[in-house]
Amino acid sequence: MRLDKLLAQSAGLSRSQARELIRAGRLLVDGQVEARVEARVRDTAALTLDGQPLRALRAMHLMMNKPAGLLTAARDTRAGTVMDLLPPQAAALGCMPVGRLDRDTEGLLLFTSDGELAHRLLSPKRKVGKLYEARVSGQLGQAAVDAFARGIQLADFTARPALLQVLEAREDTSLARVELTEGKHRQVRRMFQNQGHEVLRLTRLRIGPLALDPGLETGAWRELSKEELRALREAVALA
Ligand code: URA
Repeated sequence: MRLDKLLAQSAGLSRSQARELIRAGRLLVDGQVEARVEARVRDTAALTLDGQPLRALRAMHLMMNKPAGLLTAARDTRAGTVMDLLPPQAAALGCMPVGRLDRDTEGLLLFTSDGELAHRLLSPKRKVGKLYEARVSGQLGQAAVDAFARGIQLADFTARPALLQVLEAREDTSLARVELTEGKHRQVRRMFQNQGHEVLRLTRLRIGPLALDPGLETGAWRELSKEELRALREAVALA
């Protein structure tokens, strides 16, 4: 990444503020003064500004195994939010949830301080798939699979055709996976409801190439690995 961009992102500065500091020779990259704003540096380079390491202020990308019962919101005075599970520096670095899961939805929730990455992952134009597993009431059959494949007409829009994979179909409840490339409010729940099935439990398993870490306990989070971040960025042409 260009040095002025990295410094701006890392320290929450504008590009022009970052350039001024760099040109003034106040920035060390891996221990060496670097005064060229256009220098290419690794995202993980150790930056030191006026002798202060900026390591703690780098871009942040996290995945959480969201528990049911928490809102996906920056802050809510009445109810608990997913931000309550993160350390305070996450919010301070502008690390925000990418899209929303309903209060009762569980599973993969991505957080990033990179606004452009978040924007691209959510844009319906980019068609990044989000895979959900749903336990629903009643017995799912071919009729629902066909309806999902055609595209379901909801009150305010027609959902794009989606692949519904039935994993288990019993008389009382069924288990299925569905992948969407758009994310309207309560879309999965409304699509099943349209077919006469109530969603009893909903878990997101994947966003594009990023899978929920099966070792991540409910309510726990971790930073993305370099490989995970690279794959996500590639998926939205940010490589
Ligand atoms: N679809 C839903 O209905 N709820 C979610 O939380 C996500 C997708």
